[in-house]
Amino acid sequence: MTTQRLNFMDSGFRANPYPSYAGLRRDQPVVQVDPGGFWAVSRYDDVVHVLRHPQRFTSHGFQVAWQPAWLGYSPMAHSMLALDGGAHQRLRTLAARAFNGTAVRRLEPRIRQLAAQMAEGLAVQGEAEAISAFAMPLPTTVIGGLMGLDASLHGRFKDWADAMASITPEPLSEAHAARVRATVEEMTRYLTEVIDARRREPAEDLVTDLVRAEVQGQSLTDREIIDFLVLMMVAGLETAVHLLGNALLFLAENPDELARLRAEPLLIPRFIEELLRYESPVQCVLRFTTAETKLAGVTIPRDAVVMAVIGAANRDERRYSEPERFDLQREQPSLAFGQGAHHCIGAMLARMEAHRGLEALLARFQGFTRLSSEVPWNLSFAVRGPACLPLRFMPAR
Ligand code: HEM
Repeated sequence: MTTQRLNFMDSGFRANPYPSYAGLRRDQPVVQVDPGGFWAVSRYDDVVHVLRHPQRFTSHGFQVAWQPAWLGYSPMAHSMLALDGGAHQRLRTLAARAFNGTAVRRLEPRIRQLAAQMAEGLAVQGEAEAISAFAMPLPTTVIGGLMGLDASLHGRFKDWADAMASITPEPLSEAHAARVRATVEEMTRYLTEVIDARRREPAEDLVTDLVRAEVQGQSLTDREIIDFLVLMMVAGLETAVHLLGNALLFLAENPDELARLRAEPLLIPRFIEELLRYESPVQCVLRFTTAETKLAGVTIPRDAVVMAVIGAANRDERRYSEPERFDLQREQPSLAFGQGAHHCIGAMLARMEAHRGLEALLARFQGFTRLSSEVPWNLSFAVRGPACLPLRFMPAR
């Protein structure tokens, strides 16, 4: 008997992957799924094992998955996320400078100010599509500002990031393929112009730092700088936007939790940690096997793409008691930001954006209600969040 493979791109699956994850953890902890026939690993300990053994499970998996034949050059497939060893370390050292504690703390007053301004804008409108009016512009303005990119183009960044996150082994349609190809061209053209401009006239921003940077005595090529900037845009937006979007959806559906956070704003960081576990913005990361490997009793062949399903591991009953329950008292950290050599370098910034964003909304509004019962989820097997969320905002008295 042949059973149909689970497809992570199915709309039903994306709307609620958790029952399928529970089934995978119970019956098929390591199994091939679609798209791509990738090997999904769903139990917490197995996901940690994959992330902690980069010699056996290399990050080349991203290169294989993000450089499908239908797409020309794919910047994401050549970014540090897809590199291993020394080549990865060389770029990560550079990126770490831009996102260390001192650099991120310097951004905090600006993030608070932006969040308060945007909350005020929502109060004036009363009703708004919350992703495009809040969840998206807050991190976009922060990352665009860090990079020193033209503010008039911030609206385009999210489209670019969405297109990169939607890359699949087979295009979803001809229109999808054409859109992604055109996006890569547009991004490359624009970023090349920015790099040229910074070479002529340096500024106080990340692009200038990259143009000037020397790692182990070598400067970066334009190609490397572009791949780096595209990764920042995708890694910094597709994730942070979904964290805020998931938070808004959760709070609109759980007014008691919202009231509790308003009464005790010191709980906001705890709320964010539990939400990262419960609705992980990054649902899976990819790896590539360098040898035949046995995991949870299943043999994965050599040269196979492995999906470490963070979203499933974060609800593993072997790790968390009552994992399907949202619980602010939980102490165990989650895998939301990954683990090991590729652990998210933007984690501190993401937490701060979410903290200050929610703080501003909860101070300004006593609640928000949904204007539509449908949630269109974004188009990606790797990251997850609402694509559109119309809300009515009730000002605080
Ligand atoms: C890596 C999650 C926000 C930049 C990662 C990884 C995860 C992750 C799971 C590990 C990938 C792997 O192991 O292959 C998240 C989540 C975020 C978030 C859930 C928000 C809620 C950000 C932000 C930035 C950022 C705001 C920066 C602007 C990066 C970069 C990497 C990364 C550059 C690659 C690191 C490397 O390859 O060494 N992130 N991220 N992330 N993240 Fe984040």
